[in-house]
Amino acid sequence: MYQFHCLNPIASKGLDIFDENYRKSDTMEDCNAILVRSAKMHDMQLPSTVSVIARAGAGVNNIPVKECAEKGIVVFNTPGANANGVKELVLAGMLLASRDIVGGIEWVQKEKDKEDIDKLAEKQKKQFAGCEIMGKKLGIIGLGAIGSMVANAATGLGMEVYGYDPYLSIDAAWNLSRTIHHSKTLDEIYSQCDYITIHVPLLDATTRMINQEALAKMKDGVVILNFARDLLVDEDALIAALDSGKVKKYVTDFANHTVAGHEGILVTPHLGASTEESEENCAVMAVKEVRDFLENGNIKNS
Ligand code: MLT
Repeated sequence: MYQFHCLNPIASKGLDIFDENYRKSDTMEDCNAILVRSAKMHDMQLPSTVSVIARAGAGVNNIPVKECAEKGIVVFNTPGANANGVKELVLAGMLLASRDIVGGIEWVQKEKDKEDIDKLAEKQKKQFAGCEIMGKKLGIIGLGAIGSMVANAATGLGMEVYGYDPYLSIDAAWNLSRTIHHSKTLDEIYSQCDYITIHVPLLDATTRMINQEALAKMKDGVVILNFARDLLVDEDALIAALDSGKVKKYVTDFANHTVAGHEGILVTPHLGASTEESEENCAVMAVKEVRDFLENGNIKNS
């Protein structure tokens, strides 16, 4: 009998895969496995019985991976399982940054009780005019599961896509080779693109990679999208670039006191993977990884 503990509510379909050999416990005590989504685990004392942690998501920066490795605890993530959910929100972010959909909806909501709202709307709509994304250049930093899906979708929408990824797999490179320009340097992305979206993990080397120096190399009026991790962007430098007009819009999935409510910033509360499908896919993959490890000793991300 194996015991597991969920640090976050996790899609119930995932847990159904555990059979009678598994018992869900309300505490970590005596547990063999921990399932986690976004809970920060750095200060947690894990019982010595824990041999595996599975993160229902791609990033593992909420888990002390190095300490786990030292203690012989295996850490899994679920690469690709929520990629479609994030991709769809990135596309929505690009459209929201280009068309004033939010402003238009808010205006109708405010004026909804006026008899002549139809006439007012005709006058008002000029204020909400936007631009199209077809024909624009999109730079994608990181062409993993999410970045490559964004690349394909944006190509389908008629955008010219530039991708940068020094660690690109041969398969991914081949699949994307006919549709995108492979940029050899980040500077090429910065200097060419109208929209730039980041899809890299948060590491020492990527922390605040979008900083004053990088922003200075970008085109005037660039739109930046960040659905990966907040600390990839130096938000003070970003706000200065927004205020000067260098950056037209910043779309981020990470709400905090610095960005919330600032003019030109569209913020969602970490919703990228919050779809029924992504939550289920991640939970199912996480549970399968835990089972395969505990029962067969297999250590491989799906
Ligand atoms: C991820 O790393 O895949 C996301 O942060 C998942 C999530 O929203 O939990």
